[in-house]
Amino acid sequence: MQATIPAGLDRKQAELYHKLDPSRLPKHIAIIMDGNGRWARRRHMPRVAGHREGVAAVRLTVRTAAQIGISALTLYAFSEENWKKRPKTEVDFLMRLLARFLKLEVPELNKNNIRLDYIGRIHELPESVQGRMEESREMTSHNTGMLLTLALNYSARSEIVDAFRSIASAAARNGGIDHMTVDEDSIAQHLYTSHLPDPDLVIRTSGEMRLSNFLLWQLAYAEIHVVPTLWPDFDGFHLLESIAEYQKRERRYGGLNEDHTPPGSSHGRAVAAQHNANHSSSQHAPAHHGVKSGRS
Ligand code: FPP
Repeated sequence: MQATIPAGLDRKQAELYHKLDPSRLPKHIAIIMDGNGRWARRRHMPRVAGHREGVAAVRLTVRTAAQIGISALTLYAFSEENWKKRPKTEVDFLMRLLARFLKLEVPELNKNNIRLDYIGRIHELPESVQGRMEESREMTSHNTGMLLTLALNYSARSEIVDAFRSIASAAARNGGIDHMTVDEDSIAQHLYTSHLPDPDLVIRTSGEMRLSNFLLWQLAYAEIHVVPTLWPDFDGFHLLESIAEYQKRERRYGGLNEDHTPPGSSHGRAVAAQHNANHSSSQHAPAHHGVKSGRS
């Protein structure tokens, strides 16, 4: 399908976008932003300079994702481990940087029709930052375009623990353990991301081949693209390159590809089609582009 170039892309981005199939863009992209420290070290600068430059990369990447019509973008900003294991000075700097980002970025988010949301154990963050987060979420809540989710003080294992606790307390309120349902749907409904489709594509910068406790449940069938670029050097063009790579992949969801399918059989395609149908069914009902409007 011939692509109509979205407004706002620069010439290089437009050329690359032109080669994409706009009908097969990933609905939900997740990014593990890594390499800020190395970016700074290579320039003999303090680590925090890498984080500062990382904010500029966030701005560019978010803007391009919204411009090309991605429904949901989830960025791994601070893990629970980052928060607990890094020097206090670095954590304090990251918190100030986040508060500043949230304050300054609202007009740009509104301009690009982007809603802001968060996942993670937000209640453990400093109260002043939580206040700022709530304000920025509120100030973008009327937008109808891309949902930008920042994972803050996030750990996938903690998320799964929280989901099981939530299932148990829902059962306790509803007649006890005999009323507890534990299956894939109920777990997905109690995750922080219950309102989101699972990511189709996860990008990790700086060449490390790890998921680092990010969206472990939700990434079960995601395409993984690891790029050598350090996060502060990442931008909208790199995002489009990752999408081009994603479009080369064949998603099988445990089925077979055509080469391995007995002649005349459509089993492989049927499995993938069934999976697609399941993942856009009522459980993840689209309020807008496959993304529900509220967060539970
Ligand atoms: C990983 O680089 C990055 C982080 C732990 C923090 C990510 C933060 C930003 C991109 C900036 C702030 C973001 C927002 C949304 C305001 P690293 O420090 O682990 O790098 P290294 O592996 O090279 O040491």
